Amino acid sequence: MAELTAEQHQALEAAIAALGRSYNPYSGFAVGACLVMADGELVSGANVENAAFGPTICAERSAIVRANAEGKRLFRGLAVTGRLASATNEECDAITAPCGVCRQVLFELTDLGGHDHDPWVVLGSPSRRRIELTTVRGLLPHAFGPSDLGIDLASFRT
Ligand code: THU
Repeated sequence: MAELTAEQHQALEAAIAALGRSYNPYSGFAVGACLVMADGELVSGANVENAAFGPTICAERSAIVRANAEGKRLFRGLAVTGRLASATNEECDAITAPCGVCRQVLFELTDLGGHDHDPWVVLGSPSRRRIELTTVRGLLPHAFGPSDLGIDLASFRT
C-alpha cells in the first residue's frame, strides 16, 4: 500500500465523500473523484447517470467540468474511488481506475501543462485499505494530445 502525502490523503477523503453524492440508478455503481488544482483547491465530482445511458458523465469528468467552470484547468493530482452503491465504504477493498474516455480527457489537461507535467493519481478503495499511486501519463502510455496538433495553448493554461 502506497504512503500518501497530506494532500493526497485529503483528496482521497474528498473523493470518498463525493462518492456518496453519485447519481447511479442504472448501474448501481458509485464513483467519486477529487482534483487538486494547481493552486491547491480541491474540486470533487461524482458520476451522473442518465436514462438514455449514453449521456452518463463519469466522476472524473464531472470534476473537470466543474473546475473549468471556475476558470481552473491545470491540476497537480487526482484521487478516484468507487463501489457498488449497495455496499458500504468499510466493506469495499476494491480500487476503481478511470475509464478510457476519462483518461483521454485527463490527458488533455495534463498536456496543457507541458511535456513534463504529469499529475499524480491516487486510486483508493472506499475502505481506505488499498491504495495505488500512479500518474496521468502512466495511465495512458503513448497518448495522443493537444501537443500533437501543434496548437498554441498558452491562453488556455489557467
Ligand atoms: N464511472 C465513473 O464515474 N468513473 C470511472 O472511471 C468508471 C465508471 C461510472 C460511470 C457509470 O455511472 C458507472 O461508473 C458504471 O460504469
